[in-house]
Amino acid sequence: YRVAVFASGQGSNFQALADAAAEGKLGGAEIKLLVCDKPAAPVVGRAQAAGIECYTFQPKDYAARETYERELVGMLREKEIDLVVLAGYMRLLSSVMVEAFAGRIINIHPSLLPAFPGKDAIGQALQYGVRVSGITVHFVDGGMDTGPIIAQRTVPVTEEDTRDSLSAAIQAEERTLYPEVVSWFAEERVKLEGRKVTVIRR
Ligand code: GRF
Repeated sequence: YRVAVFASGQGSNFQALADAAAEGKLGGAEIKLLVCDKPAAPVVGRAQAAGIECYTFQPKDYAARETYERELVGMLREKEIDLVVLAGYMRLLSSVMVEAFAGRIINIHPSLLPAFPGKDAIGQALQYGVRVSGITVHFVDGGMDTGPIIAQRTVPVTEEDTRDSLSAAIQAEERTLYPEVVSWFAEERVKLEGRKVTVIRR
């Protein structure tokens, strides 16, 4: 089972996935490729250190999002990628990617969707004053964090929490949940019918 990770930034989720694969904890999935739209991002160095192939590109070198996504789709097909895992990939996907990999693109978002979609979900949650937040892994459709939900975990928020402390608590949950969800896919245990997601128990 062949996975491509898309990331734009720090890559803590990429690292967790690469570590889980190396430890045999990804349901037999292999991370075959990192795709990064920011060639200077720290995640690129993480891929190099882990010996994972890395493809970087700059969106501004292309006329349109559809243009570079057509190239990406061709590359992903050539490498026989089964699942596209967005891990802090800070761009919306167009219908080119979403339709080519329908039901095979997932994302992790640092809130309990549908609360606080989009950028700075952690800041939004603190600003709003919720006492429970969390993380969501969901299928990707054409919208902003709108696809069918696969798994969620809660994270409590206290009056003392800051952006840093809440980010750390959320990242700790992400590091365990995302590899687990990818292993469900590798074991073909996730079914999608309309918006209904079923995870088959072992
Ligand atoms: C994560 O918090 C994830 O939920 C969000 O972007 C962040 C990426 O962090 N989509 P990292 O690059 O994996 O460290």
